[in-house]
Amino acid sequence: MKIITPRLVLRPTTLEDIPSIVRNINNLNVSKWLLVVPHPYRAKDAKEWIKIQKEKLKKKPKTDYNFGIELKSEHAIIGGIGLHHIDKYQGTATIGYWLGQNYWRNGYGSEALENLLDLAFKKLKLRRLEAGVLVGNPSSGKLLEKYGFKQEGMKKQAIKCKATGKISNEIIYGLLRQDYRSK
Ligand SMILES: CC(C)(COP(=O)(O)OP(=O)(O)OC[C@H]1O[C@@H](n2cnc3c(N)ncnc32)[C@H](O)[C@@H]1OP(=O)(O)O)[C@@H](O)C(=O)NCCC(=O)NCCS
Repeated sequence: MKIITPRLVLRPTTLEDIPSIVRNINNLNVSKWLLVVPHPYRAKDAKEWIKIQKEKLKKKPKTDYNFGIELKSEHAIIGGIGLHHIDKYQGTATIGYWLGQNYWRNGYGSEALENLLDLAFKKLKLRRLEAGVLVGNPSSGKLLEKYGFKQEGMKKQAIKCKATGKISNEIIYGLLRQDYRSK
C-alpha cells in the first residue's frame, strides 16, 4: 500500500532504500527515543528490518502497516511510520514513527501522522490508538497532542532502549476516533 501526500510518499521499503535508512537512523539523537533500533545501525540491520516487514505484509489477519517515509523532492527515504498490533475485533492498534534529524521541524511528521490516522480511523475504522513515548522526548508528545492524543498514564521502567541500553519510564498517549481532529 502507498499513501501519497503533498510532499511525501508513504510506501513499503525495499533493499534499494538501505543507504538512506542507515544514513538517517544511525544517529543516537533519533534511536535513543526508539525501542528496538540498535546503535550503531548498519546495512545488515536495515536488510533484516526490511525482510521482517515483507514477512508481516503476508500475515493474515493483518497486524501491521509499516511505511517508509519518502521525501518526494529527494526521492529518498527520510523516516518510517507504522500501525502495529492491529486488533480488528478490539478496534485497537499502536503507532510508531521516526524521521532523520535533518528533516525535523518541517511538518513532515505531521503530514505522515495525519495520513496514518486517516488510515486507522477512516479506512480501518479502528476505535482507539495508543503511542508510548519515553520520558524526556522533546518532540513526540507535541506531535501527538496536535492530533488530540491525551496522556493517559506512565509505566515505570517499562522500556529498555536497544540503542542506549537505558531503562526509561514510558508515557502512554491514547486517541479515540471520536476525538480525532483531522487537520
Ligand atoms: C517525533 C518526530 C517524528 C517529529 O517530527 P517533525 O517532522 O519534526 O514534527 P513536525 O514538524 O510535524 O512538528 C509537529 C508539532 O510538534 C512540535 N515540535 C516538533 N518538535 C518539537 C520540539 N523539539 N520541541 C517543541 N515542539 C516540537 C512542532 O512545533 C509541531 O507543532 P505545530 O505544528 O503546532 O507547530 C521527530 O522529532 C523524530 O523523529 N524524533 C526522533 C524519533 C522519535 O522521537 N520518534 C517517536 C518515538 S515515540
